[in-house]
This record gives sequence, C-alpha cells and structure tokens, in this order.
Amino acid sequence: MSIKTKVTLAAKAATRETIVLGISGGKSKPVLHAGQSGVDTSKLLPLFLSIGASAKPDQVTKLAQSDRIYVAVGLGEDAKKVSAEVLRRAAGAAVRELAGTSNLAIALPHDSVDELAAIAEGALLGNYQFSEFRSNSKSDLKNPISAIAILSKLEKDSSAKKAITRALIIAEQSYFVRDLINTPPSHLTPDSFSTRSKKIAASLGLKVEILSAAALKAKGFGGISAVGQGSANSPRLLHISYAPARAKKRFALVGKGITFDSGGLALKPAAGMEAMKSDMSGAAAVVGTIFAAAQLKLNVAIDAWAPLAENMISENATRPSDIITIYGGKTVEVLNPDAEGRLVLADAMMRAEEVGAKAGGLDGLIDVATLTGAQVVALGTRTSAVMTNNVDFSGQFLSAANKAGEAFWPMPLPEELRASLDSPVADIANIGERMGGMLVAGLFLREFVSPNTPWLHLDIAGPAYNEGSAHGYTPVGGTAVALRSLVTLLELASSQA
Ligand code: BES
Ligand code: ZN
Ligand code: ZN
Repeated sequence: MSIKTKVTLAAKAATRETIVLGISGGKSKPVLHAGQSGVDTSKLLPLFLSIGASAKPDQVTKLAQSDRIYVAVGLGEDAKKVSAEVLRRAAGAAVRELAGTSNLAIALPHDSVDELAAIAEGALLGNYQFSEFRSNSKSDLKNPISAIAILSKLEKDSSAKKAITRALIIAEQSYFVRDLINTPPSHLTPDSFSTRSKKIAASLGLKVEILSAAALKAKGFGGISAVGQGSANSPRLLHISYAPARAKKRFALVGKGITFDSGGLALKPAAGMEAMKSDMSGAAAVVGTIFAAAQLKLNVAIDAWAPLAENMISENATRPSDIITIYGGKTVEVLNPDAEGRLVLADAMMRAEEVGAKAGGLDGLIDVATLTGAQVVALGTRTSAVMTNNVDFSGQFLSAANKAGEAFWPMPLPEELRASLDSPVADIANIGERMGGMLVAGLFLREFVSPNTPWLHLDIAGPAYNEGSAHGYTPVGGTAVALRSLVTLLELASSQA
C-alpha cells in the first residue's frame, strides 16, 4: 500500500504527543470534548477560550502546555449533533493544520464504528500533499504527519480494525485520483494516464485493455477520435475489469478523461484555462473506484471505462459543423468542439453497454464527468449533480453519497429541452439550448444508453477541482470527489448480492 502514514487505534495517548480535541457549542456554551484522552477539560477549556478557540468548522487552535501540545478543532454549534461528516472534516482540518508534526493523537468524540471510520478517513484525506514537481521549493512544505493514533474505546473491536483498513484503501485511491488530476498535461497524456493505471491494475490482478488511436478509428469510436484528433498526444480508451467469481451484480463506470480541455477551435479564454487540466477527473475517479473495489474484495463485477483524449487546436482539430459517428452508428453534428466530454462519453457508454449485455446485462451504468460550466453555476463548487433514468437507482446513490459525506443533488432531465439538440443534418447536435446547459448535456448522454439500463449521470464540474483554499479534508486542486460515493454504493450492492 502506498500510504506512508501509519494509523493505529489506541486506548490512551502516549506522553508528550500532540493531541487533537473537539470543541462544539455556541459562544455562550462552548464544550470541549476530550474523547478517550482522559484530559481534564475543565482546566483546558478556559485556556482555549482565552486564546480565541471556537467551535467554527475548520478552526484549529493550538495550545502548548508543559506536558504536550493540545489542539482544539471546531465541531460546529450543535454539541449534541456531531455527524460523521463533521468529524471527517474536523479530523482533516486538524491534520492539514498540523503538517510538520511527526506523531499525532486524535481524541475526537465518537460512539460508533462509522464515526471512527469517518475520523480515520478525514485524517488521511487531510494529510495529502502533492509535491512531485517541486525541487528547491519542496522544503517550503511541511511534511505530512507520519503516524496518527486514534484514541478509541473501540480499539479492540474487529470491525474498528476493518474500518481503518478501509480508510487506508479509500485514502490510497483518493491520493491516486488527486495525483492524476494535479498532474499537468505536460506530464499526463491519454497514453501516460493509461500506462500509469495499467501498472496498478496489474498489481491488483485486474484485466486491462487499452485501445490505441488507430484501433479507436478502426472500430468506429468516432467521438473519442474526433476529440483527440487535434492533439499530438493521441487518444485512448482504457478499460479495466474486475470480475470476482461469484458476483451477482454488474456495474459499468464511465469517466470523462480529457487530459486537457483547451476548448479546441471554440478556444476557451486564457483566464482560468489552466484549471482544465482537471477535465479528466471523472476518468480518474472511476479508475480509483475499481481499484478500491478490488482491494476491498467487493462481490460485484465492475467494468471501468476511461475515454481519454486531449482537446486541442490544430489543423487536424474537429471543426464546428463536422459530423461524426459515435460507436454504434448515431451521427452527431459538432456545433461546438468545446462540448467534447459528451462525445467521448457517448462512445464509451455505447461500448460499456455492449460489453455489459454480452455478460448478461448491467445492473447499472454510471458516468462521471466534469461536463458543464452550467453545473457550477447551478450548484456551486461543492455540490455535484445527479441525473438519471431510474429514480430508485439515484435514490440508492444519493443515500450512499450521504453516508460517504459527499454532497450530490438530484437534477431533472426536462423533456422539453430535448428538441433543442435536434440537428438539421445529423441524428443529433452536440449543443442545444443554453439555459439549463447541465440538463441539456444530460439529455444528450441519455441518447446513448438503453432506457432499460439503470443509468446515473454525475456532473462533478465544480467539486472535482478546488480552485479556492483548502477546507476540512479537501485540499487545493484535485479532490477525488465521487470516489467515496461510488465505493459506498458498490459496497451496498455487494452486501445485497
Ligand atoms: N470541461 C468543460 C466543463 C467545465 C467547465 C468543467 C468549468 C469544469 C469547470 C466542458 O467541456 C465544456 O467546455 N463545456 C461547455 C459546454 C457548452 C459549450 C455547451 C460549457 O460548459 O461551457
Ligand atoms: Zn469543453
Ligand atoms: Zn471538457
């Protein structure tokens, strides 16, 4: 496992260790929670308050005493209702703030294994650092914490130990996803994305197939080919499968993998274009998810598909008015080469369904994509959208997302918007009505999945990449959003199988 941080469960804190406590309640009634630490909070609370500690989420206050350093992290105003996600964020915020510390004890309050798991996850996710491209400036960063002890009365519980193992897997794959997102297109191309993934897949015993640009063209993947044809870094279709022997359910995960979205001939403005290195976040999330599912030995069959291309401008780039043929035969008039995600997804979704059908049918097909700016306008940078042809399936997903602590919100696919995608010359156009652009993109994708296959479309355009400052366990840059919800959904399916 590539997580270097050691996580242990302990009954009590070691001497001289830095120790994280929680603080909750409003200004008039603050409460200091010492969890299992045995710390005398009656003495510490006034000291903390005198230096400005409060229950505000993300507020981390350090207090040096002769025996050790105490740290109070905000748990919000409601002292009785500290949710798993509040704990996850608090642990993340504390660990982030305490980078440079070697050993840390976390004594956040919890009663259940789920809450303990959230603390472990938050701590590990908050400990992430991306320093691969720093040379002399590497020393500007404080080292991630190397050993974290979580103080818990569940210390001897076997399910608690399992929860720690799971948290390590979630963190390892979230780091992998974040690394891919943060790696710039100078160093992450469709080819290198595929080979990096293939190495890990092979180490986990998963089957991998990578279609080259020539194979994509020959086999009729007109969407991926058209989007990739303007770039010197040729496109790929990466397919990873996990097929445990007795799996009763089968899911296909399809992730948008644009290693850089310049907009093509519909060139994006220079300001902010750098964030488009993150346009492969969906692909990274589905690959990380299948790796986590394999490590967790889930009892569901999964195919992960990553249509990978670089959307560039050149004499070979797709022009507005070009007509392309998606895998399976549907034609698309490309009115806007910047609406490229739906083109690569359409190819991959058609293929995913074909392969799924041969294996006995899919119980669900989920696409994950940084698909529209309209998603960010509608829901902001921290809430992702879910669109579907099956409300039972989206209901299951939303409850999994809620459990995982990821904010997803259901969005409609209004029938009246569909006609805006009609083309006078092809089966469909790649853009339609501007108002409700996120929904129009969803309606476009719906054309490439059978109505009988339970399908979810996750638009993660805003939450995939944090351009603001770090908060909770979320760093600046790639977040790995969707991975935890997807893994949780697959765990649910695995336990029902
Ligand atoms: N990758 C972008 C969407 C995006 C925007 C992701 C902001 C993350 C943050 C996508 O390929 C795109 O350019 N979409 C266009 C579609 C339009 C031309 C219909 C958009 O949203 O403007
Ligand atoms: Zn685009
Ligand atoms: Zn894009």
